[in-house]
Amino acid sequence: MNKSIFVTGTDTNVGKTVLSALLVAALDAIYWKPIQTGACEGTDRQAVMNYAGIPEERTIPESYCFDPPVSPHLAAAAAGVKIDLARIQAPELAAGDRVIVEGAGGILVPVNDSEFMLDVARMLAVPVLIASRTTLGTISHTALTARALRCAGVALTGVVMIGDRNRENERSVEQFAAVPVVGRIPRLESINRNALLQVFRSDFDRTYFQ
Ligand SMILES: Nc1ncnc2c1ncn2[C@@H]1O[C@H](COP(=O)(O)OP(=O)(O)O)[C@@H](O)[C@H]1O
Ligand SMILES: [Mg+2]
Repeated sequence: MNKSIFVTGTDTNVGKTVLSALLVAALDAIYWKPIQTGACEGTDRQAVMNYAGIPEERTIPESYCFDPPVSPHLAAAAAGVKIDLARIQAPELAAGDRVIVEGAGGILVPVNDSEFMLDVARMLAVPVLIASRTTLGTISHTALTARALRCAGVALTGVVMIGDRNRENERSVEQFAAVPVVGRIPRLESINRNALLQVFRSDFDRTYFQ
């Protein structure tokens, strides 16, 4: 899992899957969503294959996959399953393979009665990238996410701001969440491999992704 990245978000629906697809395309990485809920509405693995234009072989199957679009601890309980972190393991990777791991929801989403998505990131020992909205509310949501990760001793790479650019919110996130904004994804008309590669070239600081 060398050079791999764990993509979390300040919330569900902020753009984690779009950011993951961008990184998979730009870094020629492998995609993995260890815990998927809401699979009845389609999986993020399928979305990343479509967005980034990658074959299934460049993805890792989910460790847990549930149909209901609810929190992992609830989806697992409804299926009579307890999510066990020890069972969340990436398969053997070739030297130099990078994995983009996408979390479910935000960092304090419960995965069982006592553990959270944050514990999955910590257990995998992969630095975390936070997907945040550019809009009102983002300063507190991003600062809370960064603080929870720091308290848990999880390494933070930075924040990617998604949506119409708001420079004041960007500066405030850097000041109050004390994490660098390492990329931006504007609102895209069409989400496809070329558009994502173009955004990485123009709106990401690649020194954070070497
Ligand atoms: N930069 C963007 N431009 C246009 N649509 C976006 C963008 N980022 C996300 N979306 C759309 O917003 C929705 C939620 O994004 P997604 O990446 O699935 O969020 P998450 O993985 O955090 O739940 C999807 O329909 C996605 O296509
Ligand atoms: Mg997603």
